[in-house]
Amino acid sequence: MNGHEAVERTRRDYDNVAELYDSMVSQGDDVTGTLTTAMINAFAGLVHAGGSDGAVLDAGCGPGQWTDHLDRGGTRAYGIDLSPAMIAIARQYRPDLRFEIGSMLHLDAPDQSIAGVLAHFSLIHTPPDLLPGVLAEFARVIEPGGSLLIAAQITDTPGADGWIPYDHKASPAYLWSLDALTEQLRAHDFTEFGRMRIAAPAPGKPPAGYLLARQGPYLSESADD
Ligand SMILES: C[S@@+](CC[C@H](N)C(=O)[O-])C[C@H]1O[C@@H](n2cnc3c(N)ncnc32)[C@H](O)[C@@H]1O
Repeated sequence: MNGHEAVERTRRDYDNVAELYDSMVSQGDDVTGTLTTAMINAFAGLVHAGGSDGAVLDAGCGPGQWTDHLDRGGTRAYGIDLSPAMIAIARQYRPDLRFEIGSMLHLDAPDQSIAGVLAHFSLIHTPPDLLPGVLAEFARVIEPGGSLLIAAQITDTPGADGWIPYDHKASPAYLWSLDALTEQLRAHDFTEFGRMRIAAPAPGKPPAGYLLARQGPYLSESADD
């Protein structure tokens, strides 16, 4: 499967499961939800600390629950997703927010126009050879000093290139280690700010990882010691 076919496959697969996915998201898991919310709020906090009044992009937003969360918390946000069915659901929940069909591989945004990008379990389906292109797009659109939060199922035992295939229920996917993802980010001038690992929910299932990064070097105005 080439890159274009892989992306089309992901679009089709998520169109087919969009309603089921939305109902699973609505049921949620309280413990994981608390950790996730804390990390997404930290991402929003980092965006605001940077003093930007730009919007953040929820890239691969699915039914838009985190776009909604960010907006309710006072962070301007919009979502894009490959899947028209996902975007239709997101628009039903929040017709007042901007949700567009689009691909992370070619973002429809000017250079340095976005305060931050949230990629919440949406990079896992990107074939590994296309991941640098997606991160280059994030680096292109995020303002200097802007923020990036990546969440993904991860592996603690990656292959030589930093990833292994993942037998995901919805669509072919890939597990990276947090260290390998950080290396990839570094190659695109992102600096890791913090990370979180959530234990596997059941035997045989992967853990989840969160990586919070900043575009450019990690500089704090008060860090003079
Ligand atoms: C597991 S769901 C996550 C949805 C949502 N972010 C969440 O946290 O529930 C993955 C989503 O990423 C989208 N996606 C995958 N690859 C994408 C790409 N290259 N560009 C845009 N969306 C993509 C899929 O269509 C799907 O809606």
